[in-house]
Amino acid sequence: MSPGGTTVPESPESQSTNHTEVLDLSPSPEFAAQANGQADLYDAAAADFEGFWADQARQRLTWAKDFDQTLDWSGAPFAEWYVGGELNAAYNCVDRHVEAGNGDRVAIHFEGEGGDSRTITYADLQRDVAKAANALESLGVSKGDRVAIYLPMIPEAVAAMLACARIGAPHSVVFGGFSADALRTRIADAEAKLVITADGQFRRGKTAPLKPAVDAAVEGETTVEKVLVVQRTKDPVDWNDDRDVWWHDVVDSASDQHEAVAHDSEHPLFILYTSGTTGKPKGIFHTTAGYLTQAAYTNSVVHDVHPETDVYWCTADIGWVTGHSYIVYGPLANGATQVIYEGTPDTPHQGRWWEVIEKYKVSILYTAPTAIRTFMKWGDDIPAKFDLSSLRVLGSVGEPINPEAWLWYRKNIGGGHCPIVDTWWQTETGGIMISPLPGVTDLEPGSAQRPIPGISAEILDDEGNPLHDPEAVGYLVLTKPWPGMLRGIWGDEERYKETYWSRFGPKYYFAGDGAKFDEKGNIWLLGRVDDVMNVSGHRLSTAEIESALVSHPSVAEAAVVGATDETTGQAVVAFVILRGGHEDHGDETVQELRNHVAKEIGPIAKPRSIMVVSELPKTRSGKIMRRLLRDVAENREVGDVTTLADSSVMGLIKEGMSSGK
Ligand code: WTA
Repeated sequence: MSPGGTTVPESPESQSTNHTEVLDLSPSPEFAAQANGQADLYDAAAADFEGFWADQARQRLTWAKDFDQTLDWSGAPFAEWYVGGELNAAYNCVDRHVEAGNGDRVAIHFEGEGGDSRTITYADLQRDVAKAANALESLGVSKGDRVAIYLPMIPEAVAAMLACARIGAPHSVVFGGFSADALRTRIADAEAKLVITADGQFRRGKTAPLKPAVDAAVEGETTVEKVLVVQRTKDPVDWNDDRDVWWHDVVDSASDQHEAVAHDSEHPLFILYTSGTTGKPKGIFHTTAGYLTQAAYTNSVVHDVHPETDVYWCTADIGWVTGHSYIVYGPLANGATQVIYEGTPDTPHQGRWWEVIEKYKVSILYTAPTAIRTFMKWGDDIPAKFDLSSLRVLGSVGEPINPEAWLWYRKNIGGGHCPIVDTWWQTETGGIMISPLPGVTDLEPGSAQRPIPGISAEILDDEGNPLHDPEAVGYLVLTKPWPGMLRGIWGDEERYKETYWSRFGPKYYFAGDGAKFDEKGNIWLLGRVDDVMNVSGHRLSTAEIESALVSHPSVAEAAVVGATDETTGQAVVAFVILRGGHEDHGDETVQELRNHVAKEIGPIAKPRSIMVVSELPKTRSGKIMRRLLRDVAENREVGDVTTLADSSVMGLIKEGMSSGK
């Protein structure tokens, strides 16, 4: 444990296998020749950092007013990019493609879980966004107002986000799996004026309601004036005539003409809440021009999207940053054709994704390691039944991809030849930061490899000295500002400085990830070093789940750790001390507590297991030693206990486990 309270994870043994001996992992000449991202980008960015990013912004975006200055870092760590410029993000994602004669190009192939589908061209999307923007304005939303979006994966979600961007009303998308309480906190923090939701969504062949959570979240004192409701499942919903409005009433009847006024480069585009080390989620906020530049650039050079010919599919939910940057803003700014799929991978059968790829001839697939490991478990024979020959680029995001999963992905999905881009980035970074370029880089299974052109990273030791020795484990930092960087934490400047720019001083952005270089200079990401867990690529904080547990009347104390899990990367394991009178625990209490966490935060936060204990291991200063609990959760020999206030505690816990108490 370092003075900063962080622990660098050990590097897993399995990563040292050298697979490159048996596989040719260099780009094929054909791929390299057509790739958007060429080696000279590294040189250009190294020769003139600001000039490079100025070029990206001017080449990839359409500006209403050109910018005067590429970067103003004088107020560090608060950055301004493309100072003095003006543009409209929605115009860049939609209208300009129609104006360029590509209105008939498909923007979205929507595939519902039940097999219903819709084809939306750029001209259709332009009308949809204009109508939604007019409707939002008629409901009193204007520039600067915040809009919360709590929607399933349906095309209206894209239209809603772009309509907000068009008006200049920052959106705050809340993942549809979050509970009413989680939604309420996020609405309150952003002081949202309007919520856009749906009656419900289709999941695993059934309907799941959404609107009741919104009803509960806006009950009593709230900043929300109106709730705009998309009809998706047609299940009955409670209705408040003063507050609730159907999408089909106000959007469908609105005019399909809407002028996209230009906004300042630094006008806030969205807020997205993510877990931090304390219980309170952080409202990460991004602004317009820098974010959009990086989203478009990375989607072009990393995913290698060729808008005229590719069919791209990112399987993320729009409730996460991956959905923001690589479903909405990046691909649409580039004028790409993409698939949006509403449902789960095993409904109605375990080959559903491969069926979607076959049906739409998907050529670029961007997904998460947890999904890949699940498919590995289901068996090679399932994807083998489908024609996946349209695929030419595969991507991975959200957590480290272990070499075994990488190799399985390459062989069984990528036909043994598709480049895999393992992309490291964060909600805070806005876009991809560390990744191979598929036409340039010799791939290394399991490593995200190196910063993309325009991005600079280092690995530091505890004292802040750069580490270059192969295998030396340290902390990943970013050493220069970048266009897509967060501009702050909504309403909390101090927390922004403290969280990201203080651990190693104001020159280094502290990412919160452990990392090492290998002997070839590749970066290996080794997981979070703070109290943030990564479950199926979703960030969850231990503190948030602990506070949900102690809010239950039977719990006196709780400690939560992320334990290694074969499929989900990490799994939530909780240790609880029950209150007097509740000690007679049984499976029932444990079940009730698991459900309680799901209700308080959302089903993704539900602990895999809850162990009832009589004591928790604490240091003399009262800090819970999660490292020791992780040893228990992962069935390991318990590590060094000398700093415990009471060194017998771990013995008691282990004893309780084995006797099943
Ligand atoms: C982890 C998701 C290893 C990392 C885009 C980071 C990764 C956190 C990778 C951000 C990767 C993401 N390899 N780890 N390719 N991609 N991570 O904000 O710990 O939901 O800090 O953004 O996910 O999660 P977030």
